[in-house]
Amino acid sequence: MRLYRCLVFGLVCVCLSLVSKGEEDGLSGCNMYEGEWVWDDSYPLYDSAKCPHLRSQFDCSKYGRPDHFYLKYRWQPSKCNLPRFDGKEFLTKLRGKQIMFVGDSVSLNQWQSLICLLHSFLPQTQILDELDKLVYNYTFPDYQVSVFVYHSTHLVDIEEEKIGRVLKLDSIKSGSIWKNMDILVFNTWLWWYRTGPKQPWDYIQIGNKIVKDMDRMEAFRIGLTTWAKWVDAEVDTNKTKVLFQGISPQHYNGIEWNEPGVTNCSKETRPINGSTYSAGLPKAYYVMEDVLKKITKPVHLFNITTLSQLRKDAHPSSYNLFKAMDCTHWCVAGLTDTWNELLSVQVTN
Ligand SMILES: *[C@@H]1O[C@H](CO)[C@@H](O)[C@H](O)[C@H]1NC(C)=O
Ligand SMILES: *[C@@H]1O[C@H](CO)[C@@H](O)[C@H](O)[C@H]1NC(C)=O
Ligand SMILES: *[C@@H]1O[C@H](CO)[C@@H](O)[C@H](O)[C@H]1NC(C)=O
Ligand SMILES: *[C@@H]1O[C@H](CO)[C@@H](O)[C@H](O)[C@H]1NC(C)=O
Ligand SMILES: *[C@@H]1O[C@H](CO)[C@@H](O)[C@H](O)[C@H]1NC(C)=O
Repeated sequence: MRLYRCLVFGLVCVCLSLVSKGEEDGLSGCNMYEGEWVWDDSYPLYDSAKCPHLRSQFDCSKYGRPDHFYLKYRWQPSKCNLPRFDGKEFLTKLRGKQIMFVGDSVSLNQWQSLICLLHSFLPQTQILDELDKLVYNYTFPDYQVSVFVYHSTHLVDIEEEKIGRVLKLDSIKSGSIWKNMDILVFNTWLWWYRTGPKQPWDYIQIGNKIVKDMDRMEAFRIGLTTWAKWVDAEVDTNKTKVLFQGISPQHYNGIEWNEPGVTNCSKETRPINGSTYSAGLPKAYYVMEDVLKKITKPVHLFNITTLSQLRKDAHPSSYNLFKAMDCTHWCVAGLTDTWNELLSVQVTN
């Protein structure tokens, strides 16, 4: 019938059927990761001063950040609208479920934002448990929803051995805990290029071979492939939804945003206009995309790289307890709230 009317009404019908695909609500047929930042006076979504357990690393407002513009931007996808975060809807739809962020401090960053968002909806009842130094469990008992963060710099294992700390590119031992979750959000990248005292391993092992060092991008590819194979072999994706967070960008090189000579984000108070970042996607993005394509089970790429590249203004810079220049993490409240609005679309639909 629709086809017939299309033939009859031609162009008019093409327009109608585009609308009827539901592109307007942003829940289907729309790439939510493509768009631009727009000023919105109704943001931020909560007052960070009221958020419990907020780490001094991310609490920019408390540590004196003078400008508040960075709190006032909303992500506007090009072809649909991103629903405003709704704590009640999130907890209701996820009732009885466990969600876990697995990865480095960028995972912690997003976890903190989600806790703040949910806390602002339900300030009275929640329990924070430190399971061990690596795992935190934040539970909303009224809804039996637990939000975990599991610290892992590389996803693959690092083990203490006689020769020292060994990064094992083809081994994932922590997976037995991850598997029990209903939703998993993975991330790793930040640590793969660390050298000197910040490098958390002494040797790299691939199979039976042990080396002192190797091409880091190659190591990232091998490690991530191990994770991908683990998903295919071990995760029951009928029960567990798996997401991989795209590469979270840093802003230490002004050339990327046409300000040569700038070496950090300290002077940045506004996002980049429009939808494109002139430097393009980082090389690690393509490695990750490549590895993800080889997974046969459904894994959603949580594609936050470009939209975050546009937010050179959203890092703590020196507004943290340590006054250390940080153009890697993100202020909470701030950009990671948008990540969680995007996450909410993925996990509640
Ligand atoms: C997380 O904490 C809640 C509330 O304390 C508890 O009921 C639940 O068993 C914990 N989950 C894990 C995996 O420890
Ligand atoms: C997942 O569900 C599909 C369709 O219901 C079924 O064919 C498949 O065997 C299930 N996989 C597992 C691991 O249970
Ligand atoms: C950050 O950049 C500013 C100017 O762009 C410069 O004066 C300052 O020394 C830089 N700080 C650090 C810690 O790199
Ligand atoms: C970005 O857009 C705003 C609003 O349209 C405008 O005021 C501002 O000058 C633009 N900034 C740049 C760098 O183009
Ligand atoms: C992720 O976003 C970037 C930038 O919009 C785009 O180039 C890329 O194709 C997207 N990746 C996927 C898998 O959709």
